[in-house]
Amino acid sequence: MIGTGFMGRVHLEALRRVEFVDVVAVAGRQVEAAKKLAEGFGIDTVVDDYRLVLQDTTIDAVHICTPNVAHYPMTRDALLAGKHVLCEKPLAISVDEAQELVTLASERNLRNCVCHNLRYYPMVQQMRRMREDGDLGQILVVQGTYSQDWLLYETDWNWRVDAAASGPLRAMADIGSHWFDMAEHVTGLHVRSLCADLQTYYPVRKRPKQNVETFAGKLSSADSDFEEISVSTEDFGAVLFRMGDKTRGAMTASQVSAGRKNCLSIEIYGTESSVSWNQERPDELWIGHRDTPNQIIVKDPALLKTGARAYADLPGGHSEGYDDTFKQVFRRFYRSIAEPQSSVEYPQMIDGLRQMNILQAEIESHRNRNWVDV
Ligand SMILES: NC(=O)c1ccc[n+]([C@@H]2O[C@H](COP(=O)([O-])OP(=O)(O)OC[C@H]3O[C@@H](n4cnc5c(N)ncnc54)[C@H](O)[C@@H]3O)[C@@H](O)[C@H]2O)c1
Repeated sequence: MIGTGFMGRVHLEALRRVEFVDVVAVAGRQVEAAKKLAEGFGIDTVVDDYRLVLQDTTIDAVHICTPNVAHYPMTRDALLAGKHVLCEKPLAISVDEAQELVTLASERNLRNCVCHNLRYYPMVQQMRRMREDGDLGQILVVQGTYSQDWLLYETDWNWRVDAAASGPLRAMADIGSHWFDMAEHVTGLHVRSLCADLQTYYPVRKRPKQNVETFAGKLSSADSDFEEISVSTEDFGAVLFRMGDKTRGAMTASQVSAGRKNCLSIEIYGTESSVSWNQERPDELWIGHRDTPNQIIVKDPALLKTGARAYADLPGGHSEGYDDTFKQVFRRFYRSIAEPQSSVEYPQMIDGLRQMNILQAEIESHRNRNWVDV
């Protein structure tokens, strides 16, 4: 495990739930934090330089849970060391970096995953299987948002605000990439062109002088000492897009929407029927009809489409949420390592590259105020 913050812990907990995986080493820049985390999980090896982990020939795979700018060098080094790699999203901070990683993983024949885990909510899989079975008909419109509020105030801070750690885009890369990955996964269509408008409401933010953990800024004391920092990354973005041949869509990503925590909502309108899902009520799926009453179905593996059932481990009435999506990804990733002939059923670096292409198009479109092909 490389990185010991929010995702480091979430990944460790999820790996505990995958029967045939042992986590043997933790690498963290803040070695005391890494030691504490490793101790809690009974992991003996803790290092402050991730390259030491890569030298260990008994290790098959690494998870990269560090800020975005570190994804490319760490993933490249891990692939060159012959490790299978599961990297957090976004895969890199540029198309060129992402392309190089895709090529390297393919040349070395190594399993590679980008953690677009949100695909694996059972009801998201239900939407996908409904589309595959033709229940939606031809898809006309895809729309939605990913809205949060944790960076609403000018005193809110995280490494994501800083382009040097997060890359040139923030809201669109951090949460917009999850939305587009889900939209493409569920519809089976690719975004072909887009028009983006980005906004940085706070070109200067007040950074607390003490360290602030991801999502923990709200708990900081009001009398913290601050320093003023210029910000180039966007707080909000709106994107019009075209998918496939005929499908049209619109989405927004925001980290300044008071009251919205992790509100990823997606609505898909087809010639036969519609579906609408919201991450904050993950076990429910709204199905819209033109000529018969609409439905809200609740997750119950016995009643899901066959393909979606494999993503629901608990009986109906027992909710399955965010944590469970990681377990679903990791289980499939490690099975594909243990059984080299098995098929790949998780997002790969090629999918991470797709998201980088979309992000690059958003940068160009916003800069030039025009439509850009992806
Ligand atoms: N899939 C998801 O749902 C999801 C959710 C949140 C974050 N993420 C992604 O996970 C990644 C990490 O985000 P986070 O929220 O956990 O951040 P975080 O700040 O909580 O943790 C980052 C960790 O990386 C460590 N680190 C930084 N540079 C390092 C280095 N050179 N060597 C070793 N450790 C280093 C930091 O010390 C810290 O422990 C980001 O890329 C983010 O986009 C994904």
